[in-house]
Amino acid sequence: MSNAILELKNVHVSYGNIEALKGVNVTINAGQVVCLIGANGAGKSTLLKSIVGLEPLTKGEVIFNGERITYTGGDSSAKKDRVFHSTDKIISRGISMAPEGRGIFPEMTVLENLEMGAFMLKDNALIKKRIEEKYEMFEILKDRRKQLAGSLSGGEQQMLSIARALMSAPRLLLLDEPALGLAPIIIQNIFQTISKISREDKVTIFLVEQNAKMALSISDKGYVLETGNIVLEDASKNLLENPKVKAAYLGE
Ligand SMILES: Nc1ncnc2c1ncn2[C@@H]1O[C@H](COP(=O)(O)OP(=O)(O)OP(=O)(O)O)[C@@H](O)[C@H]1O
Ligand SMILES: [Mg+2]
Repeated sequence: MSNAILELKNVHVSYGNIEALKGVNVTINAGQVVCLIGANGAGKSTLLKSIVGLEPLTKGEVIFNGERITYTGGDSSAKKDRVFHSTDKIISRGISMAPEGRGIFPEMTVLENLEMGAFMLKDNALIKKRIEEKYEMFEILKDRRKQLAGSLSGGEQQMLSIARALMSAPRLLLLDEPALGLAPIIIQNIFQTISKISREDKVTIFLVEQNAKMALSISDKGYVLETGNIVLEDASKNLLENPKVKAAYLGE
């Protein structure tokens, strides 16, 4: 039996006449950290959005945990083919995303942001327990719990974005450029945290990054996306040694 938690099969996404994804195939096994690297505009964010139903597919399918979750937009004829499609339903099935630009609520406190990540839960004791767990993992957030999220540093905001995504206890966590705009020392900290989440919380992670070296060094497998096409797929340790990857993405 296949151990895949997520499969993208021939996924196409268009914005008007522009095809941003041109038939993408991705397989992620449970427990893996998988990264997707690619230049600006390659279609990385579009790919993550297509998984959580934020961008409809024009062709292809997305399978999560053996179930088809393909979102094809407003076409009612396609409805019978999908198990669920709205983003909050997908989240409640076990996928969560920390979006590009972090997506935190700046006018809310750290604590309120974490509570928002648990919007689908009704059990207050469970919400409290999960918040405590996040404070254990991200101690800085505990210290800052009453502070407005907008006043946090960039690195702290990224921690909050990841912690909030974990509030729904996802099986699959999607991270869109968690290192963007951060200082090297903070980036190292963020990547260590991502490894820790994978190891200790047993969460499968799909990581989109432009910081290819870091992403490949903490992941099991990597994909390279170029203008809507996957052009390379291999064990991350092989991609780190691949001359094409070295020249184009590692600056070597
Ligand atoms: N809402 C939209 N409407 C029209 N075109 C879009 C939209 N979103 C993205 N695109 C286009 O689709 C392509 C892929 O964009 P996407 O944001 O997925 O790239 P990316 O790899 O995440 O880039 P970056 O590294 O800069 O975040 C780009 O050419 C972009 O201009
Ligand atoms: Mg992007």
